[in-house]
Amino acid sequence: MMRIEIATLFPDMCDRVIGESIIGRARRAGKLEIESINIRDYSDDRFHRIDDTPYGGGMGMLIEAEPLARCCEDAARRNGKRPHVVYLSPKGAVFTQQKAVELAQKELLLLVCGHYEGVDERFIEACVDEEISIGDYVLTGGELAARVVAVAVGRLCDGVLSDAVCYTEESHYDGLLEYPQYTRPAEWRGRRVPEVLLSGHHANIAGWRRVQSLRITAHRRPDLYERVTLTEQDHKLLARFPEEPEPAGEGEPQ
Ligand code: ADE
Repeated sequence: MMRIEIATLFPDMCDRVIGESIIGRARRAGKLEIESINIRDYSDDRFHRIDDTPYGGGMGMLIEAEPLARCCEDAARRNGKRPHVVYLSPKGAVFTQQKAVELAQKELLLLVCGHYEGVDERFIEACVDEEISIGDYVLTGGELAARVVAVAVGRLCDGVLSDAVCYTEESHYDGLLEYPQYTRPAEWRGRRVPEVLLSGHHANIAGWRRVQSLRITAHRRPDLYERVTLTEQDHKLLARFPEEPEPAGEGEPQ
């Protein structure tokens, strides 16, 4: 079973993810362990201080290397194995579904949240396996980012979702965005569900969905589409399901 620890100055913020729907259920069912760890517990200062001003001057405070390193070492000691240590920061490699799949293979993951202006660089050099950003914007700390990573990784762990189909069909699993989905009624405010979906013809439905995924990805995310290798079957499908003009909706230009 996978275990995720979140090292933070604000354990309350991370405990919320731990109780959250699917992840909370998985945790209670013993499919996944998630726990937050308070970095301050590793301070040797009488007032539990863990931060100091940056050498060379500048704004704000940095978290010292020593309490962070001790926190990692204690995780290794308590669990009897070295954790894969991820430091969340806007300087990291941008998080993707592919990275979530990779991290879901780890037995023990330690997500370290920075705060204030960051952490002493020597902690990163000495203890961190990889630095991850959840996007090109700056948050006030790593806690929200750690929650994002914990949820994206946790839901991929065995037994957390009911069926593998849950994530093999969704956006980003195979580098494509998901096809559109519809439920009853078959006609809603003048808009009909695409006929092929009502046909019960599974091969045609699968073909239509593949084409929709390809077209939506090409249109919305040319950066992703560039990396897709189209099969011969894809070329046939694209020819068979020609691009339809998008139906005009309310508020859209006619
Ligand atoms: N901490 C602050 N901003 C962040 C971001 N974009 N990703 C990860 N950690 C962060």
